[in-house]
Amino acid sequence: MQTSLILLKPDCVTGRKVGEVIKRFEEAGFQIRGCKLFRLSSEILNEHYAHLASKPFFPEIVAFMQSSPVVGLAVAGDNAVDRVRTLLGPTDSKKADKGTIRGDFGVDVMVNVAHASDSAENAEIELKRFFKDEELFDYAMSYTTKP
Ligand code: TYD
Repeated sequence: MQTSLILLKPDCVTGRKVGEVIKRFEEAGFQIRGCKLFRLSSEILNEHYAHLASKPFFPEIVAFMQSSPVVGLAVAGDNAVDRVRTLLGPTDSKKADKGTIRGDFGVDVMVNVAHASDSAENAEIELKRFFKDEELFDYAMSYTTKP
């Protein structure tokens, strides 16, 4: 079992696709271990996108990511990091196949619905960055619902 960190970006939140996107993760069998709505500070974005800080489009990313609250998700499952990235599709929504989250809902490379951790190592760092210990839950999937 692995847990991955997902951020549903402002296009997803303001485009009213939060439910649709979470539904994809649930239908793929992931367990939601953490879920919250919050605003991203400049400090946390500088840390999170440090690898892009020197790029000319960096200020645009920061403005976009702060344009509305985001939804943070911690989802668990076998091989969660890679499987979540596969469900999302490539960074550039225009290159993403239909049937992937970015292919179905994304606009371009920046307006691309969601962030997801890209390695097990980064997932651990990013989960700590966005969730306190007490905001991540371990529990049994005891009940099922009507189909
Ligand atoms: P990156 O970490 O390369 O991709 P991913 O989110 O798929 O892990 O880039 C982080 C975000 O930066 C990306 O989701 C959108 C934005 N971005 C741009 O706006 N333009 C670009 O050319 C790139 C590479 C990223």
